[in-house]
Amino acid sequence: MKETIEKILSELNDLKCSTEKEVEEARIKYLGKKGEVTALFDEFKTYAPELKREFGQKLNALKQQAIAKIEELKSQAATASTQGGGSAEDLSMPGDAFKLGSRHPVSIVRQQIVDIFRKYGYTVAEGPEIEDDYHVFEALNFPPNHPARDMQDTFFVSAGHPNPLLLRTHTSSVQVRTMEKMKPPIRVICPGRVFRNEAISARAHCIFHQVEGLYIDEGVTFADLKQAILLFAREMFGADSQIRMRPSYFPFTEPSSEVDVSCNICKGKGCNICKGTGWLEIMGCGMVDPNVLRASGIDSRKYSGFAFGMGVERIAMLKWQVNDLRHYFENDLRFLQEFETATEV
Ligand code: DAH
Repeated sequence: MKETIEKILSELNDLKCSTEKEVEEARIKYLGKKGEVTALFDEFKTYAPELKREFGQKLNALKQQAIAKIEELKSQAATASTQGGGSAEDLSMPGDAFKLGSRHPVSIVRQQIVDIFRKYGYTVAEGPEIEDDYHVFEALNFPPNHPARDMQDTFFVSAGHPNPLLLRTHTSSVQVRTMEKMKPPIRVICPGRVFRNEAISARAHCIFHQVEGLYIDEGVTFADLKQAILLFAREMFGADSQIRMRPSYFPFTEPSSEVDVSCNICKGKGCNICKGTGWLEIMGCGMVDPNVLRASGIDSRKYSGFAFGMGVERIAMLKWQVNDLRHYFENDLRFLQEFETATEV
């Protein structure tokens, strides 16, 4: 009996089954009515008491081991069958494919803008989205009664305070924070989210993104500004792009200008995207007003600079000819999937 017990133990040790049917066959072979372990119990009954003492425990241990092994094989085979019928160890099974997401078109364009200016030595600067009146308006030379300071345009967090907290309406506030911290030469690009109390439509949204640029050094001129914007426009919209600058007004720049780029769709001939004009407006800019430099502790007799600001969604709309701004906020997968293959600069 001793040898038989050992033989069965070693067989159990090596036993492998890949299907539930094979497990059942093994169970019958060892534990069934006519099984090998059952047969040992029948033989055991005929033993004299001293032999029973010798083999009783060993035989019980064998039975327990056989039951445990069959249970283990049974659960392995069940798992394998729910996974498609192969063995749990089938390493040739193909893995589950993960569906990769892609970057949002607004993120792609924001990154492209930042990368273009980074090549020209600009570094990225950031500021808070919840700002105060001083950094958004006062230090940027907005007169106290300017309409942008009205509740109708600005979301206030705490009104009625001499320097109320508000959601920044433009990233020009980051100019002020940068000038407070850095000494010229300053060359920064400031991407960020901005908030305006506007009704949502195809052309306006209450949350959108801007990129602000600021360059301050000795002897910076309007010609430098024009060159920087021309280089940007050609990288963003194509090497044959032209720009034109129209006189404008911003409290924080003097002189100020709005910039148009030649329409990249009709090549200046006139189409419905450029409304027949051949030009598309892309940003505001100008020479930093000396009042703004002085407010942040920069010597306006020694230094001059330029600034510009553009809406990321607007650049993205022009680049990809999207005619409704709301597409960028609704996250409809059919829209987002169109940008899966959009490349970055
Ligand atoms: N902050 C302006 C806006 O939100 C955009 C802008 C215009 C920024 C002219 C500038 C600038 O830096 O010089 O409409």
